[in-house]
Amino acid sequence: MKVQIEKYDDNGFGIAKIGKKEVSVPFTSVGDVVEIRKWGREKRRIVAKDFEIIEYSPHRVQPRCAYFGKCGGCLWQHIPYKEQIKIKEEKLSKLLDLEIGVLPSPKTYGHRNRIDVAVTTQGIGFRERGKWWKTVDIEKCEVFGDKSELSLKRLREFMEDFNLKPWDLRKGEGFLRYIVLREGKFTGELMVNLVTYEGTLPEEVENYFNFADSLYWSINATKSDVSYGDPKKFWGSEFITEMLDDVVYLIHPNSFFQTNSYQAVNLVKMVSKFVEGERILDLYAGVGTFGIYLAKREFKVEGIEINPFAVEIANKNVEMNKVEAIFRVGEDKDVESLKDYDTVIVDPPRGGLHPKLIKKILRDKPSNIVYVSCNPKTLKDNLNILKQQYKIDAVVGLDMFPHTPHIESVVKLTLKV
Ligand SMILES: C[S@@+](CC[C@H](N)C(=O)[O-])C[C@H]1O[C@@H](n2cnc3c(N)ncnc32)[C@H](O)[C@@H]1O
Repeated sequence: MKVQIEKYDDNGFGIAKIGKKEVSVPFTSVGDVVEIRKWGREKRRIVAKDFEIIEYSPHRVQPRCAYFGKCGGCLWQHIPYKEQIKIKEEKLSKLLDLEIGVLPSPKTYGHRNRIDVAVTTQGIGFRERGKWWKTVDIEKCEVFGDKSELSLKRLREFMEDFNLKPWDLRKGEGFLRYIVLREGKFTGELMVNLVTYEGTLPEEVENYFNFADSLYWSINATKSDVSYGDPKKFWGSEFITEMLDDVVYLIHPNSFFQTNSYQAVNLVKMVSKFVEGERILDLYAGVGTFGIYLAKREFKVEGIEINPFAVEIANKNVEMNKVEAIFRVGEDKDVESLKDYDTVIVDPPRGGLHPKLIKKILRDKPSNIVYVSCNPKTLKDNLNILKQQYKIDAVVGLDMFPHTPHIESVVKLTLKV
């Protein structure tokens, strides 16, 4: 069936109509003409399984990555960046029924400070889109940048020299499972974390990765396919650092950090522009990304975060930056009172705010809320309730994830008088 791509679905796939059916086609652009031979259900949508692009839309650009179209990492390298931003602006504006701009990422390649590369019997790389059992073998990842090339080359040499077995995804056996690369984009520091099953990693590994500032060996002795484990040993420094504006943050193999450092600078600046008053609660604080930036600007900051390890790092970040702030372990639903704060910052996971937290916000009525969201849908649901007592002063989108359909947004809410 020969059809034309008319629009994009929520997951960034092109949509073509076959009769009354809407079929989503990955890696396509509006204006492409595609021959769809087979399609099937994927969750709640119909996705083309066997298709060929017969005519390319004239609006396409050349993807920088050689594996684009197969690798599941990026969906949109063929769509001009300005167009990517426009699509995100339209989607966010429509969803929240407001006119919303999306701030482009300062860099659209080499911006990611973390990649989790699978080491499998089929190759070293990322999964094929929608196929957990297939790996696209890569030499370099363009969204991470140059250091991925050397790291993957050295890994291949190391595995060959010591006859180390990659992981067999189907059988669930082997030794080397992942190589996780993390780079402080503003400090130039690199962390290499080799995730293995149980076994022995030859000490000579150090010689192969002598260009890294920190080298970890993490053991994942379970069958589950995750890219973290017990960080057993390290060579070099225990942490690497990243710098956002004038604040230094520690990065550890098991800690989260905003993945686009260049845009994270704009994110922390945006949050600090939106906070008001003096006393700030940084809820869902992680390693203190917002709180420490604000503490450096003389705000009185308290942070709450569920993950004890992240809290440990947040408090180390406090010391390192010589600021005053307190981070403690806690859950959103258990926060006792929100009365003591002028601004409450919330940056929840994709599921959005816990209903008990929303109740407490409506009960205690903090004057200002800054809501940082990585999921526009749950943001919308939460805002619909908060709107009973809060008005939306500003909404801004930030593109943290070029070449993907994901949107980060920041909303400033103030208590209605
Ligand atoms: C989107 S991340 C934001 C982290 C941080 N604000 C940053 O910018 O790095 C969400 C954070 O919420 C934490 N979290 C998840 N569930 C939570 C809960 N029920 N209560 C408190 N924090 C939670 C996660 O551990 C994670 O650090």
